[in-house]
Amino acid sequence: MSKILFVCLGNICRSPLAQAVAEHYAVKHQLNWEIDSAGTGNWHEGKAPCEHSIKIAKENGLDIANYQARQVTQKDFKYYDLIIGLDESNINNLKDLGCKNPLKLGDFGFNGEDVPDPYFFDGFEGFDKVFNMIETATLTLLKEKFPL
Ligand code: 4NP
Repeated sequence: MSKILFVCLGNICRSPLAQAVAEHYAVKHQLNWEIDSAGTGNWHEGKAPCEHSIKIAKENGLDIANYQARQVTQKDFKYYDLIIGLDESNINNLKDLGCKNPLKLGDFGFNGEDVPDPYFFDGFEGFDKVFNMIETATLTLLKEKFPL
């Protein structure tokens, strides 16, 4: 069983979307994967994803309304086979916390670009672009790392 963890800052906007895309892919292909997401920060521990992420997920056939934010732990670094940061600051935070080899989502089809942090976007505008980038990069990563 492969175990995959997506990590952003708050675990309420971006990494839940990557988690949902990966879970959908695993179900579709009947893969016995364990997939989760977490934040390097703990401000939103136990909270549902932000309303705009719930909305863009729903528009794409994914239900993330019941996800709950959590902070990444040391245990995660041993447990997961792949730990994937959504932007460079997530990667740096993960390394500071002791994660040895985090991957960067933007390295899969986006020349290492950061997934923009939509937390301070003005409303819903831009969430579709963020979702499309996360979806494409996540599927590229999964296909590359785990060829069917
Ligand atoms: P995320 O977005 O890292 O994609 O979940 C953020 C959520 C919360 C905050 C920053 C980014 N915050 O500063 O609380």
